[in-house]
Amino acid sequence: MRQADRSRGIVRPEEIRYRQGDKIFRMEYKHIIKGRFLERPNRFIARVEIDNDGEPKAETVHVKNTGRCLELLQRDACVYLEKSGNPARSTAYDLVAVQKGERLVNMDSQAPNRAVEEWLRGGGFRPDVTLVKPEARYGSSRFDFYVEAGGERIFVEVKGVTLEEEGVVRFPDAPSERAVKHVEELIAARREGYRAFVLFIIQMEDVLYFTPNRDTHPEFALALEKASRAGVEILAYDCRVTPESMTVNSPVPIAISEEDAADIHETLRKNLGKNKLGAICIPLLKWYDKSRRILPWRELPTPYRVWVSEIMLQQTRVEAVKPYFERFMKALPDIGALAEAEEEELLKLWEGLGYYNRVRNLQKGAVQIQKLHGGKMPDTYEELLTLSGIGSYTAGAVASIAFQRPVPAVDGNVLRVVARLRQDGRYIDDIKVKAAVEQDLKEIMPHDRPGDFNQAMMEIGACVCIPNGAPLCGDCPLAGLCESRKHGTQQEYPKKQPKKARKIEYKTVLIVQRGDKAAIRKRPGKGLLAGMYEFPSIEGFCTAEEVAKYLADKGWKALSIEPLEDAKHVFTHREWHMKGYMVRVDDSSRQSGMTDWLYIEPEQTMEKYPIPSAYGAYTKYLSIKLGNTRYQSDEAPI
Ligand code: ADE
Repeated sequence: MRQADRSRGIVRPEEIRYRQGDKIFRMEYKHIIKGRFLERPNRFIARVEIDNDGEPKAETVHVKNTGRCLELLQRDACVYLEKSGNPARSTAYDLVAVQKGERLVNMDSQAPNRAVEEWLRGGGFRPDVTLVKPEARYGSSRFDFYVEAGGERIFVEVKGVTLEEEGVVRFPDAPSERAVKHVEELIAARREGYRAFVLFIIQMEDVLYFTPNRDTHPEFALALEKASRAGVEILAYDCRVTPESMTVNSPVPIAISEEDAADIHETLRKNLGKNKLGAICIPLLKWYDKSRRILPWRELPTPYRVWVSEIMLQQTRVEAVKPYFERFMKALPDIGALAEAEEEELLKLWEGLGYYNRVRNLQKGAVQIQKLHGGKMPDTYEELLTLSGIGSYTAGAVASIAFQRPVPAVDGNVLRVVARLRQDGRYIDDIKVKAAVEQDLKEIMPHDRPGDFNQAMMEIGACVCIPNGAPLCGDCPLAGLCESRKHGTQQEYPKKQPKKARKIEYKTVLIVQRGDKAAIRKRPGKGLLAGMYEFPSIEGFCTAEEVAKYLADKGWKALSIEPLEDAKHVFTHREWHMKGYMVRVDDSSRQSGMTDWLYIEPEQTMEKYPIPSAYGAYTKYLSIKLGNTRYQSDEAPI
């Protein structure tokens, strides 16, 4: 199997601007418009709907590719048209690119040569190039380029590739006697002492490997095998494609023979099965570069911001975390401020996120950092693990994202992605399985981009390989490598251990109003929802009469008792099933045995008195807004 060296020859667009005389030379289109593909009456033209001053208009355009392009030119596909520079032509536009799912594919058959010329001259092929001559004659043959570099004389024949299925790219997409002839001519040049290259330019990004298309033209595959044996060098490069440009990007593995193709495919798959997930790195990071969400902690990944965001993200979704994160950073901008915050302020900042011990531990961690690390977050995985509330996931996330340490961060999203990729039937909630996945990822993660790798895995899990319902495999850069996708078993993975039933608790919640004030009480300092405030409640479901008696026994005279709706709140290990009553009590009645009740004005809960969202069904009766609801209504989303 031939595997191209991925570390060489990567050209970035900003590096390849160069001057040719006075002209800046780039493979760019100047006047691109968008359209909707309708039909292709023949190989040379297409009908495309474009916008004509706000009105749709069907336009006949020139197709700059005479190949079949069947899988590309599907009705309604979004296409890009370049204003034609040729006044002699009857069509005003050329069709140059098409959106195929997540990929943008350039299908202009002149673009590969233009992009290669730019790449050759810019040093992408070799830094020692001294001459680049397009359209070079050699005897009766004509090659795309003649190049001189380091004293060597080189012919390069370029073939543009647009045919892609599940990440595998093939050439040609229609029989091509010319392509066979070119390859044979390169063999002749090689025999005469030239170096000779067939350069497949894949007019898109994120592919797995290249192989000749035996279905459309087996003779071409045979010619390529023969050429390879004769010393003709075969390269494949993918391209960065935008509607306005195409740039040669990175080498792509090549499988020349059928056995090579089977081998490379199996190797990629087997590697996944053997805990070597290496094949995912390149497509994953490319996808992340294009598709990652802009998030406040990502754009400024200081250790403190990464730490706080990762603890918050263990509670809920990214969108829900954003306003909490901004508030938290404003109120407690650094580790010192967090270490010194009052417990009630902390709980109020966390109100609605749940798992309130996490914010207590966050604070304990901040105190440890102040005392033991001089106020600076430690920068190794091992030291991070010693901090309160930091387990392997958070230590991995902070170490990799904030300090570029090559350690994995494996959360539920990552476990799901890996389980589906490998059709791994082990229980993902078994800590031994998590440890094994951490080890597997540690072995393969790229050391130059560990934070991005971890975040890309989480991002794929959160946005593409989603948990409930069908994953969005059409958008997944790893689809070609995925065992579950291959077998249609995505929804059967991951496997989880059977859960113990939750304990069900019944309670009667009282919204007690005295004048303008309402009663709340503080929960004990230990146990569930420790230190939070709640409405008074009675164990079990009570009738209105029982509530009246309960209040009367405590010295209260109820003026009215109105039933409210039932509600339910689910915690990890228990469920609260609640019945509610709105109770108005007489201002003058005396209470006994209720010394822990506080009477507050509901607005005070905007600043003080953290109330858990378990009571969310009843807060509306006092116009109390909890956590996220409150954040959303009083400030614009970020
Ligand atoms: N979920 C938890 N942490 C995340 C991160 N850093 N990026 C994306 N999703 C996440």
